[in-house]
Amino acid sequence: MNEVIPVGADRLRDVVDVDTWAFPSQHRLDDQLEWPYPLPWGRTYGVEDQTHPGRLSAFHASYAFADTPVPGARLPIAGLTWVCVHPQWRRQGLLRAMMDAHFAHCLERGEPVSMLYAAEPAIYGRFGYGIAARQVTLTVSRGAALRPVDTAGLTVSIDHFDFDAHSGLVARLHGAVDRPGWVTRPTEAHQRSYLSELPMRKQDFETLRILVVERDGEPVGYALFRRKFVWAAGGPAGMVRVVEVAAEEPAIAHVVWSRLFDFDLTTEVITPSLAPDDPLLSMLVDYRAMQPCTKDNVWARLVDVGAALAGRRYQSDVEVVLDVTDAVLPQNAGRWLVRASASGVPEVVRTDRAADLALDVRELGAAYLGGISLVELAAAGLVTELAPGSLVPASLAFGWHRAPVSNWVF
Ligand SMILES: CC(C)(COP(=O)(O)OP(=O)(O)OC[C@H]1O[C@@H](n2cnc3c(N)ncnc32)[C@H](O)[C@@H]1OP(=O)(O)O)[C@@H](O)C(=O)NCCC(=O)NCCS
Repeated sequence: MNEVIPVGADRLRDVVDVDTWAFPSQHRLDDQLEWPYPLPWGRTYGVEDQTHPGRLSAFHASYAFADTPVPGARLPIAGLTWVCVHPQWRRQGLLRAMMDAHFAHCLERGEPVSMLYAAEPAIYGRFGYGIAARQVTLTVSRGAALRPVDTAGLTVSIDHFDFDAHSGLVARLHGAVDRPGWVTRPTEAHQRSYLSELPMRKQDFETLRILVVERDGEPVGYALFRRKFVWAAGGPAGMVRVVEVAAEEPAIAHVVWSRLFDFDLTTEVITPSLAPDDPLLSMLVDYRAMQPCTKDNVWARLVDVGAALAGRRYQSDVEVVLDVTDAVLPQNAGRWLVRASASGVPEVVRTDRAADLALDVRELGAAYLGGISLVELAAAGLVTELAPGSLVPASLAFGWHRAPVSNWVF
């Protein structure tokens, strides 16, 4: 039996060792132990080797994303992370045991939804996670033209990133973004880790820099970035890697991007993950030239279907009965009535009424943040319309006016 046990801060060495077995690292273990780890002790669990008690074979953790935007509301969400199994013990059910424990912990803590980034896409569907957001990254040439926007009244300052001076404004402006799936770093340890000069973050780029946009002396947006100096045969060919942008108005976004696209001695700018409806995509005169690359962003799993569906809002009036299958958490399976108006709190209850739509909990996770439509899933054969005419209204109601995304990998 793979017993899942709590793992405390006193086992940091074991944890980092298993981590470097699961995710190979070129750094010495002793060097890595000096790094600031954002591990949420109290939410970290592992499995020990049956034959050598005390030796850790696997572990995982979950971040408490207490105030995560979902369509029209904010919810406590568990951010599953650090999922690691030592190669010696892989494919022996350790992940499955840890997932069972994770879901039980979510229910105990009142976190109806779990989200994650998948290292490999084949792992998490079997546990009821669906791709809930897609992202776009761009490789932009220096000087790329943007459609004009009036930016009067905005000023820019560019500086070394200093944790004491800047972490407050970064946390405030990042936390103010109201986009489904946009999780913020929950603790100071997490912020320090993300904004630190770890070799894996810095690679051969300069130290972290910050560009702050101000209006009347008040910071209203920012970009974190690092440049890399490259002198190629043909001359300067430097690169800007944008770590993160928070810019919630067109003028702020325009100022941020036009400055990032015009550093001397650079030729290209690599964006962080952007939502498919990020304003930059519409501002660019030549989007096609920016080599857009799209992939999966966060995956979502409704651990408590009733609480999760009641915890978000719907963008149009809807009354629909969903027949849900859930092989991992069978208490979620069966028929759920979702009755909601565009302006109000939804009613989500068990029902005996005939179902309108049939789908697995994985598809409900995919549709949850409003970015993947039920119509799209039905077109792929993953949602079945049992009552003719029910699919389109339900799909519109489950959608949202802003596409979901998380702009950093947790
Ligand atoms: C991915 C990983 C966590 C899987 O752990 P594991 O203990 O081997 O998984 P389990 O034995 O519990 O497998 C559960 C099921 O998932 C499947 N599975 C596990 N990893 C898989 C993978 N990478 N691709 C496809 N299927 C996978 C197993 O075949 C098994 O299927 P079954 O239920 O049909 O029998 C582990 O191999 C690992 O740590 N990999 C490197 C780090 C990593 O990718 N972590 C995930 C971070 S998001």
